[in-house]
Amino acid sequence: MKIFLETKRFILREIIPADVDGLFELDSDPAVHRFLGKNPVSDKSQIVEAIHLIRKQYIDNGIGRWAIISKDKNEFIGWSGLKLVTDITNNHKNYYDLGYRLIKKYWGKGIATETALASLKYAFNELNAAEVFAMADCENIASNKILKKVGFHFIEIFDLDGIEHNWYRIDRNKFENKKSNT
Ligand SMILES: CC(C)(COP(=O)(O)OP(=O)(O)OC[C@H]1O[C@@H](n2cnc3c(N)ncnc32)[C@H](O)[C@@H]1OP(=O)(O)O)[C@@H](O)C(=O)NCCC(=O)NCCS
Repeated sequence: MKIFLETKRFILREIIPADVDGLFELDSDPAVHRFLGKNPVSDKSQIVEAIHLIRKQYIDNGIGRWAIISKDKNEFIGWSGLKLVTDITNNHKNYYDLGYRLIKKYWGKGIATETALASLKYAFNELNAAEVFAMADCENIASNKILKKVGFHFIEIFDLDGIEHNWYRIDRNKFENKKSNT
């Protein structure tokens, strides 16, 4: 099983079929899906399919979201990381997107921020990305806060399936400047 990154408290590793229960706990929770289209999963077979698709992205694109595992208790926390978006979103295509999604009991402990920063480092240092984009429902206060905190710049508001979202971008220079200022 490939480990991609380590932060102070977590390991970021590839998502594997054995993550099905953790991912089901995550994605069947309506609170988690409040700003994700309000359509939580109801059946584990949907998770099995999602794991299959993520693992296919690792092969096809060389990147995909990673499982967050706590170092102290070896617990499945959720996922964080990069995805190569190959369909059109806000007029962009074939770009790296940063995202994160945690099981509710782990919210409010700085986990999304810690793993987002590590993922950005990976984007610029390992993938040699020129830029990374991210988006969040305008009302998702926590996510918008995290994106600004890790150095993203707000670009514009756009409509995603009838819901206003903020669109963000960060490039290597901005990330380097951000790091040297923190
Ligand atoms: C969004 C999410 C990933 C945040 O994860 P987290 O680990 O709790 O975030 P952090 O602890 O790093 O907190 C980041 C900031 O947001 C704040 N915050 C967290 N939850 C908040 C809430 N519900 N309302 C307002 N602020 C909140 C924190 O206080 C922190 O601010 P600070 O740096 O000023 O202290 C988590 O709530 C989640 O998984 N939500 C469901 C999925 C989702 O919405 N994903 C994002 C899609 S764009």
